[in-house]
Amino acid sequence: LSPKPLAGKRVLITAGPTFEAIDPVRGITNLSSGKMGFSLARAAREAGADVTLVAGPVHLDTPRGVRRIDVRSAQQMHDAVLPAAPLHDLFIATAAVADWRPASLSAHKIKKDGKKIAPTFELSENPDILAAVAALPDRPYCVGFAAESEKLEHHAREKLLRKRVPLIVGNLGPATFGRDDNALLLVDADGARALPEDGSRCDKQELARALMQDIARRLPVRD
Ligand code: C5P
Repeated sequence: LSPKPLAGKRVLITAGPTFEAIDPVRGITNLSSGKMGFSLARAAREAGADVTLVAGPVHLDTPRGVRRIDVRSAQQMHDAVLPAAPLHDLFIATAAVADWRPASLSAHKIKKDGKKIAPTFELSENPDILAAVAALPDRPYCVGFAAESEKLEHHAREKLLRKRVPLIVGNLGPATFGRDDNALLLVDADGARALPEDGSRCDKQELARALMQDIARRLPVRD
């Protein structure tokens, strides 16, 4: 296989968590470190692609040669990704996007009221970025991720059908969040394949390289 199987290809990747503000100093977020997405961006660049990484709040250095757009909320990630997606050959959604956001943002820090009554928050559903990109008429090849604590293949296949994407990459989380190693299950319409093939755990960067090679073989050949 060519060492640069993605030469001439444009790749868009989301990574990290999102942060949904409650007030100026508080918010809802999750424990995604962004490592898998950043490793994939590095691997895609090494494979010759032009790479754009849309990152939620993470503490990671931008991989060399990768264009990075920093965002905070799911809505900002959506607004950065949607117009850019049709200009790309491949979209990989690794971000752990918050499913909900506070329905309203308080302009001031919410204070204790002195009566020991805790505030309640109404939530609104965030847009599903991957499903929105996969529904575009001029969509790139779309790859989603699934972090599950059990029944990985079952849940990954459910996402494959619900989001209408050709490939879902599953990993058994949340144990994987923040770790440097991982084990993946590639689920597509034909079946499932473990990566590494013996089901062992492997360094995320090495795994990202193997995954990018696999994805490169799935891309339609342009004439
Ligand atoms: O079922 P779930 O929504 O958790 O699916 C996870 C996959 O969908 C991941 O690829 C994630 O990046 C993507 N996703 C998204 N926008 C959301 C929720 C999930 O792009 N609002």
